[in-house]
Amino acid sequence: FMVDKANYRHFMAKEIHEQPEVVGHTLARYVDMATEQVSLPAKLPFDFANIGRVSITACGTASYAGFVAKYWFERFARLPVELDVASEFRYREAPLRKGDLAIFISQSGETADTLAALRYAKAQGLHTISVVNVTTSTIARESETVLPTLAGPEIGVASTKAFTCQLMVLAAVAVAAGRARGELNAEDETKLVHALIEVPRLMSAALALEPQIEKLARDIAKAQDVLYLGRGTSYPLALEGALKLKEISYIHAEGYAAGELKHGPIALIDEKMPVVVIAPYDRVFEKTVSNMQEVAARGGRIVLMTDAQGAREATVQSLETIVLPDMPATVTPLVYAVPVQLLAYHTAVIMGTDVDQPRNLAKSVTVE
Ligand code: AGP
Repeated sequence: FMVDKANYRHFMAKEIHEQPEVVGHTLARYVDMATEQVSLPAKLPFDFANIGRVSITACGTASYAGFVAKYWFERFARLPVELDVASEFRYREAPLRKGDLAIFISQSGETADTLAALRYAKAQGLHTISVVNVTTSTIARESETVLPTLAGPEIGVASTKAFTCQLMVLAAVAVAAGRARGELNAEDETKLVHALIEVPRLMSAALALEPQIEKLARDIAKAQDVLYLGRGTSYPLALEGALKLKEISYIHAEGYAAGELKHGPIALIDEKMPVVVIAPYDRVFEKTVSNMQEVAARGGRIVLMTDAQGAREATVQSLETIVLPDMPATVTPLVYAVPVQLLAYHTAVIMGTDVDQPRNLAKSVTVE
């Protein structure tokens, strides 16, 4: 069927703006709003209590959703997670245990490397879950359990709404795992579900920052290189921010764990390279501030994405602060994705690139 851009200039803009709605739809499929408990749309053919380790495999943006999920599974369910990009998973001869769980994440459900990784895991006797947006896809058909994202058709080559819907599904699964393993009690679960229910509203608030981000993009568009930094679950967001910017604006960007800065990339810092710091006021905030001070001391210009408390406590000269609403730490990756996407989008628009169809890229990579 036909999907149109409505009143938006690009599909990507439309898809960024749809997020409160589609993430809300996805949420409604994974939680019981009345009891405020997780309720997965498919019955799992195993018990999380019997799983020793989870392998998460995907490509590109989907792999960054998996990276965030690693933090969640480990924190909520005390379940060790190994994360791989699909092209590495199959060939590194990882010791896999029969009966363990492998999760595959793919918007299209047709990515060749991810599909091959799924087949490999099945052949090794693992339980398989796919988190897919296209439920008629090959990956959906071939996996033991399908957990759909309800993002609707994603047309822009740069993935946006599929990513945040993947995060929503994975958060629900991680909470379910925590319950099954006795690491979370009913009260913990309700608290986490409460936080998830807030996400669509928080995303709308983040979208309201668009005029400020659009202005900031004029500055970013002048840069040759951009560095993205984050800690904890903001680290995968830094990777995602850098990927998004490269894909559609063709500006070179790198994402780093903030603590890694001094182990190399700090050599690049000068007044010409903007440093985007993703740092909600969370348990690692103070550590990230010290990394920002390292950047500022070398003349680096900082764009700080944080909340009101973070903005108050960040004792550094920053070029620009984007202040998001306060929110529970669990949901920051979903909400901070919005300014990260908007910054890449507006930079690309200023650069005059073909935002929905960037050069050299295909929406789904069906060859190895
Ligand atoms: C995202 O902006 C990219 N275009 C790309 O990294 C994408 O996420 C990757 O190719 C995986 O695609 P899939 O989710 O359809 O498997």
